[in-house]
Amino acid sequence: MIRDCDRPIGVFDSGIGGLTVAQEITRLLPNEQIVYFGDTARVPYGTKSRESVVRFSRENMNVLLKHGVKLVVIACNTSTSWALGAIRKEFAVPVIGVIEPGARSALKVSRKRSIGVIATASTVASGKYASTIERLAPGAHVVSRACPLFVPLVEEGWLEGKVTESVAREYLAPLRDAEVDTLILGCTHYPLLKTVLQKVMGPGVVLVDSAAETAKEVKFLLEKEGLARSVRRPAHHEFLVSDEPEHFRALAKRFLGHDLPHVRRVNHV
Ligand code: DGL
Repeated sequence: MIRDCDRPIGVFDSGIGGLTVAQEITRLLPNEQIVYFGDTARVPYGTKSRESVVRFSRENMNVLLKHGVKLVVIACNTSTSWALGAIRKEFAVPVIGVIEPGARSALKVSRKRSIGVIATASTVASGKYASTIERLAPGAHVVSRACPLFVPLVEEGWLEGKVTESVAREYLAPLRDAEVDTLILGCTHYPLLKTVLQKVMGPGVVLVDSAAETAKEVKFLLEKEGLARSVRRPAHHEFLVSDEPEHFRALAKRFLGHDLPHVRRVNHV
């Protein structure tokens, strides 16, 4: 029988973007195994209602639990915004989202406590980043902006160039006007646009994403719960998707900079 600590960590996202979070977890915890599930048949979540996002998230949990995971990371900001509370109540495994780690990272570096948040329309509508920051640092000033064109731009590989820069200038204008000193990249795809976003915001603004802080939280929780993997054999990761794997594999190369050898299609249970 496999001991609990030797079970894999589950990570789910609406699609590809959560690989940035999975990568940070493997960097910090190279001994841990990951089962990643990308709901590529139903991506994007960022344009969907709360009700749909909660239902999808619940079904993604069931896929991962079928693979015997010991802890789940919801790498998708939209899922975390709408579903983290419900999922924690409904499932017995520990569940970590990306909003609170992102908010904490921003508060660590923000000098003026004036923080911008860019995210999908659904994440911004949830108000979760703003309410979390205000809970952690009462009086902090938060300006949020939905940037729906960024996800398709990243998926097309338009990470730099005139079009992407002009879209970014349009979206980020209110944040520049508000003189935020920190910008949270509140969507799995936005770290890939860092070069353009930094150029538009200027060198005085610190860009923050949740991945590294989320990985630290995973480490902390595994140690606290006695769930860190004890086996010293190389980790084996699994990548699962709900649509055909080829498109995911091609995009994964862009997100990770290397090929993913095994990507398998599975059905929701
Ligand atoms: N993973 C989503 C997020 O972080 C972005 C892509 C989508 O809209 O599904 O919010």
